[in-house]
Amino acid sequence: MSEVGKPHDRVDGRLKVTGGAVYAVETPVANVAHAVIVTSGAARGTIQEVDVRAAKAAPGVLAVLTHENAAKLPDANKKGGPIDKTLQLLQDAAILYPDQPIAVVVADTLERAQHAADLVRASFDTKGVALTLDSSGGETYAPKKAGPRGETDSTRGDVAAGMAAAKFKVEQTYTTPVENHNPMELHGTIAAWQGNDHLTVYDATQGIFGVRQRLATIFGLAKENVRVIDKFVGGGFGCKGSAWSHVPLAAMAAKAVNRPVKLVVTRPQMFSLVGHRPVTSQLVRLGCDDKGKLTAIEHKTTSETCRFDEFVEPCGMQTRHLYSCPNVATTHRVVKLDISTPTFTRAPGEATGTYALESAMDELAYAANIDPLELRLRNYAETDEQEKKPFSSKELRKAYQQGAATFGWARRKMAPRSMRDGTLLVGWGLATATYPTHVSPSSALAKVKADGTIQVLAGTQDIGTGTYTIMTQIAADELGVPFDAVKFDLGDTAYPETPVSGGSMTAASTGSAVKLACAKLRTLLDALRKANPGVTDLADLVRKSGQPELVAEHKTELSKDHDKYSMHAHGAVFAEVKVDEELGIIRVSRVVAAYAAGKILNAKTARSQLIGGVVWSLGMALEEETVRDPRTGRVITRDLADYHVPVHADVPDIEIITVEENDPYVNELGAKGIGEIGNTGASAAFANAVFHATGKRVRDLPIRLDKLLPEGRA
Ligand code: MOS
Repeated sequence: MSEVGKPHDRVDGRLKVTGGAVYAVETPVANVAHAVIVTSGAARGTIQEVDVRAAKAAPGVLAVLTHENAAKLPDANKKGGPIDKTLQLLQDAAILYPDQPIAVVVADTLERAQHAADLVRASFDTKGVALTLDSSGGETYAPKKAGPRGETDSTRGDVAAGMAAAKFKVEQTYTTPVENHNPMELHGTIAAWQGNDHLTVYDATQGIFGVRQRLATIFGLAKENVRVIDKFVGGGFGCKGSAWSHVPLAAMAAKAVNRPVKLVVTRPQMFSLVGHRPVTSQLVRLGCDDKGKLTAIEHKTTSETCRFDEFVEPCGMQTRHLYSCPNVATTHRVVKLDISTPTFTRAPGEATGTYALESAMDELAYAANIDPLELRLRNYAETDEQEKKPFSSKELRKAYQQGAATFGWARRKMAPRSMRDGTLLVGWGLATATYPTHVSPSSALAKVKADGTIQVLAGTQDIGTGTYTIMTQIAADELGVPFDAVKFDLGDTAYPETPVSGGSMTAASTGSAVKLACAKLRTLLDALRKANPGVTDLADLVRKSGQPELVAEHKTELSKDHDKYSMHAHGAVFAEVKVDEELGIIRVSRVVAAYAAGKILNAKTARSQLIGGVVWSLGMALEEETVRDPRTGRVITRDLADYHVPVHADVPDIEIITVEENDPYVNELGAKGIGEIGNTGASAAFANAVFHATGKRVRDLPIRLDKLLPEGRA
């Protein structure tokens, strides 16, 4: 019997579509009060005065916290790890960025809290702000690392010599804007104290254990005394990867009013309080010989960060291994600006970096007059030439072949503006997708209860990826029982500890722990069966064991294979756009995307993840852009009317192909993780298709209609 791989419906699907799934801030908590954050109008400076008199006198108000009366928290910014952020917890009068929290109003109802929050008045001493990569007040530097995992710079061979030897060259700068995550579910927290030293929190998060650690540190509690619960997450996208200011603010408010407090970040506040994808500017230089063989690749990234935290968008990582080339250099620099903290956003670095690299590869294909697919095949990397390691597996060639065959790539005419559908210009573009295979140690527990039912527990999250379902499949296979016999639960720090659901690593990390915990439980059961011939009923076996229940737990370690092999998923994305030059309309009309991502654990949820990634790429290529007021840095586009994301009418049928790929090294399951790869490469495929349709190369995302207008008309 094999449940793994089957396209099982989500076990939580019915709950979700019938409104039965309880999201963090929907949890019924008795006597809960409501908190609203008041943010600064000023961008940078010092609070002169916060006038809370009217707010305090408003009906239903229980407390108004400001820097003048909030509890002092000496460890407010003691961080537990590289993804923890500097928080603004009303500790002083400093304003570091626009729309920073300056007060928290607590009232008996949400409406009364909102009303009172509107009555808070503040004045500021303001300073000038630096808001763009090229502004004179910015401070450019080389970070120590390009993100938690990557080296800042890399070099192999001699790029200058490689460029000098090249027959064909491309040298272009590509820019990407600020993007905001905008999951459907807002960030929000319910905090409830039990006495002075026990705290329970329902929080919308991708990492309950990270939130627990941060709260324990800030409030000086033993981590065992903090319980974080999150059963359903309405989209993560990276912003929910760590605790932001509103989480401890909810706990501070609850303490101040001696009641549980619910605090929901509003949609406009989502644009300043929970991170964003930073602006990037990427210089890409490519050279190839007359046969299209790459002689040099250079990829220099500059991205923005804030004054008080460092976040690096690591755009150059995949450039180090994606193509065979003797001379490759990558660099990452950041510029400190007067903005809120950028953070991980849907394939951070890979999404933005593949946009630039794969656009440049398309430009090189045109410079050398070689079909873009053929150019990539001529430069196929058989090994990781940067790390000098074999790939643990790499079926990218099959992805190119199967994707191209399904799409009909061979029928493409090379020249721009050469394909039409009536009055519409038709463009076909392709790009390579890639995402690293991350795995972290994780743990899980499996048990047979006295009544014979099977329960499997891991304190992980289901951020919409299908974790509930996949873990159930893995457990059923390992225990040799039907899918329906397993009850899997997650989202509670009372369960075994697991890593953050980021970096597309939950299935691989926690799935492996579930598999091994279930293998241990099966060994226990097999021994009992052997000792008690003829006894098959699970409840009877538990009774025979003399124990109240049969329990097995497993904690995984990272295998040495991660040092020996280079581990990445790959894909090939083929896109068609149709452009109406008269009316100024760009439509994506067809996509075929083929991925080699190791073992696919659930064909249905995997397809959904991969489509989701491609849709976000469509948004990245054509729609998404956070716009700041150039005077103050405040976000202007702070709702889903002004911040454009793809909706149904924007999205055509997207055909997903998963290429068979056996990988014995990545983890117990052979799964590489598919949460983010769909958001790599594809935006370049769309941009390349727009070039093919129109002959116009837009190197500044998003490709808005005005950027396609002939010069002088924009
Ligand atoms: Mo994803 S941006 O690693 O949560």
